[in-house]
Amino acid sequence: MTITKKTVIVTGAGGGMGRATVEHLLEAGANVVGCDLNIAALAELEENPRFKAMKADLLNEAAVQHIFAQTKSEFGSIDGLANVHGIAQHATPIEDCSLAEYRKIIDVNMTSIFLTCREAAAYMKEQGSGKIVNIGSVSTTRPRPGLQAYVASKGAVESFTKALALELAPYQVNANVLHPGPADTSMLGEFTAVGSSVDDTKKEVFESSVPLGKLLQPEDIAKSVKYLLSDAAEMITGAVLHVDGGRNI
Ligand SMILES: NC(=O)c1ccc[n+]([C@@H]2O[C@H](COP(=O)([O-])OP(=O)(O)OC[C@H]3O[C@@H](n4cnc5c(N)ncnc54)[C@H](O)[C@@H]3O)[C@@H](O)[C@H]2O)c1
Repeated sequence: MTITKKTVIVTGAGGGMGRATVEHLLEAGANVVGCDLNIAALAELEENPRFKAMKADLLNEAAVQHIFAQTKSEFGSIDGLANVHGIAQHATPIEDCSLAEYRKIIDVNMTSIFLTCREAAAYMKEQGSGKIVNIGSVSTTRPRPGLQAYVASKGAVESFTKALALELAPYQVNANVLHPGPADTSMLGEFTAVGSSVDDTKKEVFESSVPLGKLLQPEDIAKSVKYLLSDAAEMITGAVLHVDGGRNI
């Protein structure tokens, strides 16, 4: 599996899974551009000349274009895009979910992926190669009650990625979706209903729903993202990979 000297843009790089993905890719010898609304967690990685952190709101069209242009001019190519950013939804009865909240979740989790993939497609088509990995959620396959907007946004990511895989296949560009199961990051607590205990929910609701009996760690996701970005995944496109300890069954 090789990814040495490839250049990969990782979004959500300041978060749990994103930061782990950046570290795995750097260890494997890739050049990495990590983007996030909050890049404080990436400060110590900036000593590495193969890493660049870029602070950006991925809903800002010009900012997304700037990330890709900068990456190309600094590293010479854009070989991979891992969309790892996203926001959660507190479990809420649909009557209590405002239109503004619904729109925000769809925008951050899906519209931003449209923007980054549109940029990636332009560069990768010209190159005649490239790999895109979009992070969805096992809740697309097995929803939990009260997460309507979140599940809809991640379901859209899955359909969008399949459509993109077909469109970009003639250019040797692969696009796949990875659905994580419940993972031990700060986001997990944000799925609980307002007022309920995060620690109780972690064990009783999330951990107990994973057949392999434990929460996913950010590294579990990072390893699989690295695989999908590597030459080993040459013939994989339009696939839905659950990395969830069996939660989707
Ligand atoms: N943690 C889980 O249990 C779980 C389960 C299934 C799927 N997921 C998905 O996995 C991905 C990573 O989740 P995580 O657990 O690492 O979460 P996290 O909250 O640790 O990281 C998400 C990151 O996305 C960034 N982000 C949010 N909106 C942004 C925007 N508009 N522009 C730029 N950056 C933005 C945040 O700043 C944050 O650093 C997300 O897409 C999430 O929906 C998580």
